Amino acid sequence: DITYKPGKEPDPREYRMIFKNVDREGWDPSIDTYLNDGGYEQLKKAMDMDPKVITEEVKKSGLRGRGGAGFPTGIKWTFIPPNNTKPVYLICNCDESEPGTFKDRYIVHQDPHQLIEGMVISCYAVGAKVAYIYIREEFPEGAKILEKAIEEARKKNFVGANVLGSGFDVEIYVHRGAAAYICGEETGLIESLEGKRAYPRIKPPYFPAALGLYMCPTIVNNVESLCHVKHIIQRGGEEYAKLGVPRNNGTRILCVSGDVKKPGYFEVEVGKLTMRELLYDMCGGPKDGREFKAVIPGGSSSKILRCDEEFTLKGQGPDGSDKKITFWDIPMDFDSLAACGSMAGSGGVIVLDDSRKMSWVLNNINQFYAHESCGQCTPCREGSTWMRKISDRLVAGQATPQDIETLESVAYQIDGKTICAFGEASSWPVEAIIGKFREELLADTSEANEDARVSPEGQAQ
Ligand code: NAI
Ligand code: SF4
Repeated sequence: DITYKPGKEPDPREYRMIFKNVDREGWDPSIDTYLNDGGYEQLKKAMDMDPKVITEEVKKSGLRGRGGAGFPTGIKWTFIPPNNTKPVYLICNCDESEPGTFKDRYIVHQDPHQLIEGMVISCYAVGAKVAYIYIREEFPEGAKILEKAIEEARKKNFVGANVLGSGFDVEIYVHRGAAAYICGEETGLIESLEGKRAYPRIKPPYFPAALGLYMCPTIVNNVESLCHVKHIIQRGGEEYAKLGVPRNNGTRILCVSGDVKKPGYFEVEVGKLTMRELLYDMCGGPKDGREFKAVIPGGSSSKILRCDEEFTLKGQGPDGSDKKITFWDIPMDFDSLAACGSMAGSGGVIVLDDSRKMSWVLNNINQFYAHESCGQCTPCREGSTWMRKISDRLVAGQATPQDIETLESVAYQIDGKTICAFGEASSWPVEAIIGKFREELLADTSEANEDARVSPEGQAQ
């Protein structure tokens, strides 16, 4: 009998679990409202469980990280060294910065206690007595809401010393981010939390689960991932794993923006929905008089897909044969999108119709990455700026066909040669856009420009 605010009703194809209370009629982020709805019952249940059993349940659930990489959460937790004697930390990554992604903010603003309950259970499971919520600087309201919610939880003894008389102590601190995209990269985040510039650390060999904050074992999980932990305790890992499709379990929130009639957020069972169902049935199709052209399926770092592409899914046909599918048949899950050469990423689905010029899209993405590179390693620092400059020329009508080749070559020289995944995040969109829309980009160049190549800064290149 849950009702939602007028105009904010979920689509009938949604499966609302994490977003159950988002836009709910009569709902507010206070602890009383949360408790009246059965809040913190799963924490009570978890406190009677062995921490190792909780980790086992999370492993059985098949939960994969919802921040973008899709790494199995329960397995990550087991990477804490078995003979560890140092403090263990848990960090909630709430630096939601991936262009096209806007889900964690809603959880924090409207249902902060769901996150706190998931965090306390997770801290208990991994043995962390101190947890941080690293919230992006641009979410000041969210930081205030979380501070208030933590205080409310402390008063009820869900946070603090001797949680619910269990003997388990946990403190949660809210830390405002440093207003840079790279602060969301987990090792950049850890450096920033330590009070330093957010320069990502080289990994492997050491991942944060072994050497993280203050060189102690640290589990970094996304907001949405930590919320799922509460629901895994409620249902049990095996039952939770029945949601979604094999290897892609549970629900996830897709954020759809761009050229559709009804953009917004949709919580769906992972992989149960195709691209066609998402864009036509849930998002109302293209705007009047327009046609879909391309989709960036998992935030700006993911490779663009053309709407007229076809793919071969290896071994997914009858008796292990290959299966051919069109763009519209792609199931919205981690493995299918990876098999189609892109990724599910952070769930930010950016839709482009036939009014969008690809040179503009390319330039928009390049501007973002050139601005956000931390500058620590040369291929990324120099390469992202070169890519931006070349695509500046392209949109200004000053690029030559050779510029497109140079741009592609720069992207491939960044890819795989940098300290953190930002290098790939900046080069993959360029590789994919050039690879799939080369003719369109070439049409924006001019051979005549060959003799008079002038950069937007006015310097001959
Ligand atoms: P990653 O694949 O390197 O790591 C994923 C997680 O698994 C990390 O927590 C890492 O520590 C852990 N891990 C991986 N291998 C491990 C091992 N052998 N031992 C121990 N732990 C291991 O990916 P990364 O760089 O953390 O994330 C990249 C993704 O982040 C991108 O795909 C992008 O979609 C997403 N992203 C999301 C943003 C957002 O706003 N939600 C912002 C920027 C990027
Ligand atoms: Fe910084 Fe880019 Fe190197 Fe990552 S890849 S460490 S963002 S310069």
